[in-house]
Amino acid sequence: MGDIAENETSFYSNAEGYWKEVPPTVDGMLGGYGSISSIDINGSKAFLQKFLGEGEGKTGTSCALDCGAGIGRITKRLLLPLFNTVDLVDVTQEFLDKAKTYLGDEGKRVGKYICNGLQDFVPETGRYDVIWIQWVIGHLTDDHLVEFLRRCQKALRPNGLVVVKDNVSYEGVVPDEVDSSVCRDLEIVHSLVGRAGLRIVYEEQQMNFPKEIYQVHMLALR
Ligand SMILES: C[S@@+](CC[C@H](N)C(=O)[O-])C[C@H]1O[C@@H](n2cnc3c(N)ncnc32)[C@H](O)[C@@H]1O
Repeated sequence: MGDIAENETSFYSNAEGYWKEVPPTVDGMLGGYGSISSIDINGSKAFLQKFLGEGEGKTGTSCALDCGAGIGRITKRLLLPLFNTVDLVDVTQEFLDKAKTYLGDEGKRVGKYICNGLQDFVPETGRYDVIWIQWVIGHLTDDHLVEFLRRCQKALRPNGLVVVKDNVSYEGVVPDEVDSSVCRDLEIVHSLVGRAGLRIVYEEQQMNFPKEIYQVHMLALR
């Protein structure tokens, strides 16, 4: 992963320190790009709805997990409208505290608020129809990402799906010293998914994002 992750402890502690200083708002979650939130959510909804519904092989709608959930931007507009119960996991306690008011009345259907780093978090076996992992994989080292994806696979219900939605670089691993993360190219993401023993069921690029930001891809895995 290059020098940035050479010292794993500081890779994680620097990221934690960075997020503690970010305001608990949609704009904060999106690095100042709060204005793209609706395009993002609509793209995710169209993507996810290909798998949901009645019938053989369809993904259920009882429980979802929002990973690196922040204040619950995705939980509020994508997951709570589609699933009976949603759990949130994030390393920043302040964001989860904010989620409790930000989610409003529908927040009653949150199952658990879990404050933990994904590198340590073990999701409950067989609990989730969908595990949504957006804009957070760059905060995990390669090995931790592979191991986390493996644990996610075990946490799926029958016909469940893990969805990764994240920035992809044009080529190689691009470090971000500011928030202590990395951006990987699609080939590297594919190889890490393969190492985790997951299969790519479907993949799509998010369209209509501003030209100056990274390309964003959605991968459905199981
Ligand atoms: C760019 S924000 C995205 C938030 C949310 N996924 C969204 O799209 O609105 C990244 C989030 O990841 C969280 N985070 C950073 N490192 C993490 C880690 N190692 N484990 C869990 N969450 C982490 C941050 O606290 C922050 O809420």
